[in-house]
Amino acid sequence: MSDTMHIPEQPFPMRLQKFLARAGVASRRGSEDLMTAGRVSVNGVVVRELGSKVDPKVDVVRVDGREVHLADGAVYLMLNKPAGYLTTMSDPYERPCVANLVPIERYPGLFPVGRLDQDTTGLLLFTTDGDMGQRLLHPKHHVAKTYRAHVDGVPSEAQLDELRRGIVLDDGPCQPADVVLDRKRKDNTADITIRIREGRKRQVKRMCSAIHHPVLELHRDIFGPLELGNLAAGKWRLLSQEEVAALKLITKR
Ligand code: URA
Repeated sequence: MSDTMHIPEQPFPMRLQKFLARAGVASRRGSEDLMTAGRVSVNGVVVRELGSKVDPKVDVVRVDGREVHLADGAVYLMLNKPAGYLTTMSDPYERPCVANLVPIERYPGLFPVGRLDQDTTGLLLFTTDGDMGQRLLHPKHHVAKTYRAHVDGVPSEAQLDELRRGIVLDDGPCQPADVVLDRKRKDNTADITIRIREGRKRQVKRMCSAIHHPVLELHRDIFGPLELGNLAAGKWRLLSQEEVAALKLITKR
């Protein structure tokens, strides 16, 4: 597993503005503003100094009188990844990456489960649960992913059958895929839906190139039991309890 699977220890005590950001009250900057406005108290005493530290295990922090806690337990969320973002939590060249789109201050240790290419859009799962992340990626669980591919040309049924039987790529044979031709476009391109249960590098693009219909655009709608639905591009949402339970169920064995 990559080192993005590592979940950092919570450093205690921590700076109050960091605590507030991690608790989801506001960004770190916004939390500083709350502090200097005198809206934050620790153990009943208003704290305005930005260097102040708290120990979340013992100190009681309040904002406008309301008690604030760090998120506990594992976190699971989905992002509708836009095109142009790298699936990485940091990039030495400061290119746009998915870490810019998810609440890493609030949920430290969040990492993407698998990856989508820079130009691929759609459902990308994140969690702080390293064990679950590993199990979802393990080939023995055969987690199905469904993609909508806009391809060059219009593939024949015979060509789609090659994908359905399991086409051979340069790194070995693929498992049979479920493939449907959805639409022929006027400009001699087509939309296909393709469901695979593996997660090899650039797999869908390589499969489509192998039948001579290269992918022009690729979007993932479904990951295991999760569906993107109408989540807007660039937005994230926490998974429901039912969705988390469904993920646990498929990775149980
Ligand atoms: N297959 C690809 O070719 N690219 C992706 O981003 C995901 C699956």
